[in-house]
Amino acid sequence: MDLYEYQARDLFEAHGVPVLAGIVAQTPEEAKAAAEKIGGVVVVKAQVKVGGRGKAGGVKLAKTPDEAYEHAQAILGMDIKGHTVHRVMIAQGADIAEEYYFSILLDRAERNYLAMCSKEGGVEIEQLAVESPEKLVRYNFDPNNGIDADAAAEIARQAGFSAEEVPALVEAFQKLWGAFAAEDASLVEVNPLVKTGDGAIIALDGKVTIDENAAFRQPGHADLVDESAEDPLEAKAKANDLNYVKLDGSVGIIGNGAGLVMSTLDVVAYAGEAHNGVTPANFLDIGGGASAEVMANGLDVILGDDQVKSVFVNVFGGITSCDAVATGIVKALEILGDTATKPLVVRLDGNNVDEGRRILQEANHPLVITADTMDGGADKAAELANK
Ligand SMILES: Nc1ncnc2c1ncn2[C@@H]1O[C@H](COP(=O)(O)OP(=O)(O)OP(=O)(O)O)[C@@H](O)[C@H]1O
Ligand SMILES: [Mg+2]
Repeated sequence: MDLYEYQARDLFEAHGVPVLAGIVAQTPEEAKAAAEKIGGVVVVKAQVKVGGRGKAGGVKLAKTPDEAYEHAQAILGMDIKGHTVHRVMIAQGADIAEEYYFSILLDRAERNYLAMCSKEGGVEIEQLAVESPEKLVRYNFDPNNGIDADAAAEIARQAGFSAEEVPALVEAFQKLWGAFAAEDASLVEVNPLVKTGDGAIIALDGKVTIDENAAFRQPGHADLVDESAEDPLEAKAKANDLNYVKLDGSVGIIGNGAGLVMSTLDVVAYAGEAHNGVTPANFLDIGGGASAEVMANGLDVILGDDQVKSVFVNVFGGITSCDAVATGIVKALEILGDTATKPLVVRLDGNNVDEGRRILQEANHPLVITADTMDGGADKAAELANK
């Protein structure tokens, strides 16, 4: 889960990372009141979970509360790369002397943790990494040690900071690591990390990604979820403990086991080439058990997607036998009744497949079409989606 900048700011503050005052606002009136409360020069910042807000006109300096009102009016409702701005943060204006870059992330290729730092921050860091990679320090570290004082000093030195500058940076890097570790983050990025006129180091912009797998030990994180920004189908699937990802196509997919579902997506996309380029509408893994309830919940989510024209159920019976899955499908269609309106291509194989197929045949549901092979089922589902 990605956090908004204002959430990252609050989280930094809670972990002792130096930040400036910031108040979130949903209306120009709230923005004006926030600017009055903070006092002096403020910056009105669009809160969207996408980069490049400044360039898109979503970050504006305001010298007075009235100016903050005007900027908020202009920024609220703005579209930034497909994200509508529903909130702005009114941030205290910083006296910026220099802008740096600092981040902590998982380095999946190295199977390790990585800190990155550059004296040239504020800019697009991807561009810097390509054009002047020598200016971006990459520092792998053992998460059991984290970023201790020695590691932090080493990062600052490698980035080219002077001896006088190092102590304040060491403090900030260690605090940012503290936030990363305590919150089970997979990314903490500060761009820019600034040095002010009087030499203080402040995190002026924060991007934080939280590892949702740690939700069980992070009860506070539930409050950070922005339900209004969630895809309603994904939210429904999550509420039912289903592993669902919405995609753009028209063939609904249900399978058991992430590997099988992934290959089903590939096979359907390939089969779709012969049927006007139809593609999968979603990823949905119903996991090991395929009870009628799980199947009904899965179908319910998929059929709730208006783009879906056909559904391909591709199940390989292992521990869950095919007869249980077939019974699940039949009962699920009973539960759904009239809400099930789209053709269902079902391919079963594996444990007790004959009995599974027999159950489907006997039920003889008008929407169910059985397929013997994965390729055959994918082709049929793609053909039906193109009708
Ligand atoms: N509180 C502030 N006071 C003064 N200047 C600021 C403040 N916040 C941001 N700025 C200036 O605006 C620039 C852009 O701000 P920021 O990094 O928050 O947004 P962005 O980089 O455009 O967005 P993103 O990080 O999403 O790409 C900063 O590099 C800084 O120069
Ligand atoms: Mg930024």
